Amino acid sequence: MSGSDAPNGRQSLTSLQGEAIAIQGVSKRFGPIVGVDRVNLHVEAGEFLSLLGPSGSGKTTLLMMLAGFETPSAGSITLGGRDLTHIPPNKRGIGMVFQRYALFPHMSVAQNVAFPLKMRGVRKDEIAPLVEQALSRVRLQNYGGRMPAQLSGGQQQRVAVARALVFQPPVLLMDEPLGALDKKLREELQIEIKTLHASLGVTIIYVTHDQEEALTMSDRIAVMDKGHVQQLGSPVSLYHEPSSSFVADFIGKMNFLNGVVIGLDERRIEIAVSGQIFDVARSQIVGHEDIAVGRSVRIAARPESLSPTEEGERAIAGEIETSIFLGSHRTLIIRVEDGTQLQVQIPSHRDSGVPPRGQTFVRLDPAAVRVFAGEA
Ligand SMILES: Nc1ncnc2c1ncn2[C@@H]1O[C@H](COP(=O)(O)OP(=O)(O)O)[C@@H](O)[C@H]1O
Ligand SMILES: [Mg+2]
Repeated sequence: MSGSDAPNGRQSLTSLQGEAIAIQGVSKRFGPIVGVDRVNLHVEAGEFLSLLGPSGSGKTTLLMMLAGFETPSAGSITLGGRDLTHIPPNKRGIGMVFQRYALFPHMSVAQNVAFPLKMRGVRKDEIAPLVEQALSRVRLQNYGGRMPAQLSGGQQQRVAVARALVFQPPVLLMDEPLGALDKKLREELQIEIKTLHASLGVTIIYVTHDQEEALTMSDRIAVMDKGHVQQLGSPVSLYHEPSSSFVADFIGKMNFLNGVVIGLDERRIEIAVSGQIFDVARSQIVGHEDIAVGRSVRIAARPESLSPTEEGERAIAGEIETSIFLGSHRTLIIRVEDGTQLQVQIPSHRDSGVPPRGQTFVRLDPAAVRVFAGEA
């Protein structure tokens, strides 16, 4: 997506040229604490990549090194092929939006957005049209004269996005930008930012601890834990093919059942779960080297791949403890023999005849599970 050149030689904001980022062997130590641990990550030009992970997993630290506010203890970062090591933050061509990046309260919206341009010595007569363009990008074209205090939280965050975009950086970093907003507004702005990304062509690295947000917005997600990238992939591949029980648990809702391997050949393994036997393809197993008869495994099953059923083969006995209606579906909380609680999701159109509590059986679709060996 190459932008048309503006008369001043810069790219017009109607379409920015994103730039690729290569992060190689990057670590960051704070004394004894390892904040980021040997991260390798290649971000495509124009990609929307999220860093997703629990608090303390190293997301902000990695972003700060990209922006130039922290120096890596080891490794290298390049942007569009240029080594960033000795380039100061304001020369990197990277825009940044923070969770609570307070706007300058004593400046109007337009002055806030103009600030990065002034810092960069952009000519006065060029500033106003760029500010106007950036504000219209975030649908605040008539708000230039307002003061930040006269805006809602969502509008303030949109001004922050306009301020990050106004100097037309090829890369935009966002650190939990919607974290302070309520759910409905957050979901609206997720779509807005995603749409903005699609129309601009800028490369975005987006930090969140909210897996739903990451699934909604991203081309790819890097799941982080303890400073490491645990898995990198598209939302679909992370959801269906998690490479560890950490990722399986972190993305979407996941049930874990305890099982024991009771038979195997080159293609399949047989697993006993709560007295029932399930036949699973080898391709569904993570940690093949730890598979042997008698070994314990963890079986991961999404709530939508379980359903209440009648007694029979491959029906696991359990007790319905809670039944929750959620509009598009109903969630049953079912406790099985060994005490494990399962979440079972029934689409609303099939939600009839399920008793609200009592004895039941759970059908598990063996083709829809993942089996983690060596973690049990
Ligand atoms: N300036 C610092 N000094 C010491 N430890 C830090 C500093 N910044 C971050 N850390 C530590 O590095 C780890 C990663 O932190 P951070 O990148 O903020 O995680 P996240 O953004 O994923 O919540 C945490 O253990 C945190 O306490
Ligand atoms: Mg953080």
